[in-house]
Amino acid sequence: MSTINYSEKIPNNVNLEDDRTLKRALEQWQPNFLSWWGDMGPDGSQDFDVYLRTAISVDPQGWAQFGHVKMPDYRWGIFLNPGVQREVHFGDHKGEAAWQDIPGEYRANLRRIIVTQGDTEPASVEQQRHLGATAPSQYDLRNLFQVNVEEGRHLWAMVYLLHKYFGRDGREEGDALLERRSGQEDNPRILQAFNEPTPDWLAFFMFTYFTDRDGKFQLSALAESAFDPLARTTKFMLTEEAHHMFVGESGISRVIQRTCQAMNQLKTDDPKTLREAGVIDLPTVQRYLNFHYSVTVDLFGADESSNAATFYSTGLKGRYEETKRDDDHQLKGQSYRILQARDGQLVEKEVPMLNALNEVLRDDYIKDSVAGVDRWNKVITKAGIPLRLVVPHKAFHRNIGGLAGLKVSPEGKVVSESEWNARKSEWLPTPEDRAFVSSLMGRVVEPGKFANWIAPPAMGVNRQPVDFEYVRFA
Ligand SMILES: [Fe+2]
Ligand SMILES: [Fe+2]
Repeated sequence: MSTINYSEKIPNNVNLEDDRTLKRALEQWQPNFLSWWGDMGPDGSQDFDVYLRTAISVDPQGWAQFGHVKMPDYRWGIFLNPGVQREVHFGDHKGEAAWQDIPGEYRANLRRIIVTQGDTEPASVEQQRHLGATAPSQYDLRNLFQVNVEEGRHLWAMVYLLHKYFGRDGREEGDALLERRSGQEDNPRILQAFNEPTPDWLAFFMFTYFTDRDGKFQLSALAESAFDPLARTTKFMLTEEAHHMFVGESGISRVIQRTCQAMNQLKTDDPKTLREAGVIDLPTVQRYLNFHYSVTVDLFGADESSNAATFYSTGLKGRYEETKRDDDHQLKGQSYRILQARDGQLVEKEVPMLNALNEVLRDDYIKDSVAGVDRWNKVITKAGIPLRLVVPHKAFHRNIGGLAGLKVSPEGKVVSESEWNARKSEWLPTPEDRAFVSSLMGRVVEPGKFANWIAPPAMGVNRQPVDFEYVRFA
């Protein structure tokens, strides 16, 4: 069951050959996907041979096989974690057998959840499509492409569920996923962070660190679902997601390492001098961090949400690490503290836990994000530099929920409109910051060479040397 059949047009481990209707529907969708990839996938990459990993089985020991592949020939397919007998472990259906099909009354909500998740996958490919032109090394270019093909596969994962379980509605949603476009005014992607541009590699690394981590938490919550095919699909997606976050975390870490090296060489922390030396000053890194963190924190949705309560109680979406928590997994009568502004102050307000589940997931996400930022700070400490990067307050620069539009400093102080305007350029990337970062972006293609603003990685991919030919250009 866990072996993937590559002899078929659509590689899969779900016995697609036994379901002719589904197979036909997906085979009709496949050329549309490939034409979307041609139009919106990585720019100019069609003829490159890229050292990519492909899933050969969903077993933890051996799912990846590495080799040079032409990007459009990547074998996107449908891979689910093996099925096990399991029970629903939260909500009103706790203790019942997990569902192999969707109860009629939950179709609309599940469809919405799957479409919203599915929409983020092609969106990030669209956001990142121009980055290949300015890759700081072959190693980084390869990592970008690996992330891109796997986001493409995540789209397949969601489209499989739509086609298999939602009939004609599902097929229509599958088509619409290829029609929306990131940042397009008349037909944008569903969530705002996925309509923001990813204009440079500092933004890309921040995105893969922060925004792919939102993916981790959403997928982890869906991996608890009572709807078993969704749980099994998202479990396998999570193994791919881990690499995306690694790309972000190590990318930023290498930027910081290079900057600290220049700071020590030049004995300065003056951003202007450092910029003249062609590295990214740490205050600029901090402003990018503030931006990507705050738009990502918004992705968790409103802090009080009756939908979140419904999704949980009906068993559609659990909490992060649901089974590791020792409460009743139904949460009725329990409460949670959320933030709100009252008389110019942020104050806590107690609300029913079920309504606060977006906030619960957001808080789990925040804990996880902070851990990586601590690891970045270790790089700065090791260089003997006193500065520290910090994750801004969760009320900073919010656009969704009760805190939306409130003017709050990164330290969590409510500020006046005029103070916000006066200090915004200290807190969020300015047009000058972005212009400076983009001025550093130039394509480095020789194996083993790296752009001046980033340190080489400690190790290559799949134990290959750092100067391995990760991309063979046509
Ligand atoms: Fe994804
Ligand atoms: Fe991802």
